Amino acid sequence: MREKLRLGVYPTPLYKLENISAKYGRNIWVKRDDLCGVALGGNKVRKLEYLLAEARAWGCDTVFTTGGAQSNHAMLTAACAARLGLRCVLLLKKRGVTEHRGNLVLNDIYGAQVRFVDTDSYEDIYAEMDRLSEELEQEGHKAFHIPVGGSTPLGAVGYADCVQEIAEQLPDHGASLGHIVSATGSGGTTAGLLVGTRRYLPHVQLTGIGVDTDPFEDIVPQLAYGAAGLMGCGLERVPGDFQMVYHVGQGYAIPNPEDTPYIQELARLEGILLDPVYTGKAWSGMLKLLQEGGLGGRGDILFVHTGGAAALFAMDLA
Ligand SMILES: Cc1ncc(COP(=O)(O)O)c(C=O)c1O
Repeated sequence: MREKLRLGVYPTPLYKLENISAKYGRNIWVKRDDLCGVALGGNKVRKLEYLLAEARAWGCDTVFTTGGAQSNHAMLTAACAARLGLRCVLLLKKRGVTEHRGNLVLNDIYGAQVRFVDTDSYEDIYAEMDRLSEELEQEGHKAFHIPVGGSTPLGAVGYADCVQEIAEQLPDHGASLGHIVSATGSGGTTAGLLVGTRRYLPHVQLTGIGVDTDPFEDIVPQLAYGAAGLMGCGLERVPGDFQMVYHVGQGYAIPNPEDTPYIQELARLEGILLDPVYTGKAWSGMLKLLQEGGLGGRGDILFVHTGGAAALFAMDLA
């Protein structure tokens, strides 16, 4: 098994959403990975516990990563790298909200170097990362590259661990879990959840709600096989173990007017904040699916809250 750092505060809370369950006529639970204890919380911390352990093991003193201008992954990389005494360089796409708001404020607080790259292609950004790393190497540094979203097989192992944690929490709660649902943005979280459900909760079905249009039906299993290989457990798939449903609206990172009432409802009934880019789309997509009968007739539902609240300070709900 790969080395892992302890960066978050785990286990994160898991509990039933009583008001929402009563309203929708189905038991709906939440796994609060937004409360994982680093910055404003979020799913990237579980991935970074593995990725930054590897950076350390390789003797790197600098971490590069990338994402959109308001990337939660980039911000959490900055937060975790700072704690480990690693220099953090963020090459962010010059797209979306590039004013000094939301996660860009937090990146500065955590002392990351932010550079905007005017491109739509991550390949251009990875080429720039290579170039900057070579420069740093000549000055005696060693850089570790984390791809967008931290979605590598190693990062995904963090979400297999999350399912193990859920499986350990369930007996205390009396949940009869049938489904796990979460946002899919670059695929690593859903991939880890797939490995984890097959291994620790094999009767549970997994639904990824795509908030971008990438072909996650292929990306998720590919990452999942890689993660299972690293865990040395293999991945035995069965029909119906995983479905992808897309709820993108007008595009990635564009708030969707249909989601606003669902975001407000969860805030007002349960006190929980969702963001308009990831969790708001996933939550609203999940409830629509439930109402259409797309989450089967039986079994409790668990929504994995993956964080993202900083977006609420960078953009308005639609
Ligand atoms: C708040 C939030 N939720 C969900 C996701 C999606 O996770 P993944 O990229 O592993 O698919 C992200 C990714 O950036 C995120 O920031």
